[in-house]
Amino acid sequence: MPEILPSLLASDFARLADQIAQAEAGGATVLHYDVMDGHFVPNISMGPPVLASIRKVTRSFLDVHLMVTAPDLYLSAFADAGANSLIVHQETCPHLDRTLGAIKKLGLKAGVALNPATPISTLSEVLDVVDLVLVMSVNPGFGGQAFIPRTLAKTRALQAIRAERGLGFLLEMDGGLGAANVADCAAAGCDWMVCGTSVFGAGVSGNPDPAGAVRELSRLARAV
Ligand code: DX5
Ligand code: ZN
Repeated sequence: MPEILPSLLASDFARLADQIAQAEAGGATVLHYDVMDGHFVPNISMGPPVLASIRKVTRSFLDVHLMVTAPDLYLSAFADAGANSLIVHQETCPHLDRTLGAIKKLGLKAGVALNPATPISTLSEVLDVVDLVLVMSVNPGFGGQAFIPRTLAKTRALQAIRAERGLGFLLEMDGGLGAANVADCAAAGCDWMVCGTSVFGAGVSGNPDPAGAVRELSRLARAV
């Protein structure tokens, strides 16, 4: 069943526990946590200490998206802080097989993300190792950007490979997702849909009803 993953990047950070409770009241059981380092992407967000605080107020699965150069340096810090999955970018990992192995050794689900310009062929040798493949549907670094429609073809192609090779990885999409496109993503084979702005609105002046947004987006994604 397709899942909506509220992206905490779009929440009001001064009210994180409340915002998480609101998203969970709408049925969310997986939360997406964006880590940006100001090098791999032109923005800075949150690190392990904030994740550790979040871990204390929720039992939801914490899906951690590492938009950082040299993610290997931080894997154990995020594991200790309570991450359930760690997603690294293909573009940052010259030794991707080793990095994915290190994540699994920490007992976490191992994911790999692809920027819009990175072909899926770069993952052909690790698709039987990964638990998650994240197809970026915007160029990473910021919430609130427009969905890039041609990324749906990458999800469709990965879905076809998954079926053909009998593999079990989950397909995730991230960036610009909302009521206008979650059904298309689900139809393309996407299992996990990251929704930031469409759940929380824009930060402090955000959506007053994140629970309703998660409910409605889940309904749209599951109607496919
Ligand atoms: C973008 C991040 C996303 C972001 C999505 O680089 O990886 O997870 O929170 O935000 P929206 O849903 O607003 O595009
Ligand atoms: Zn993300």
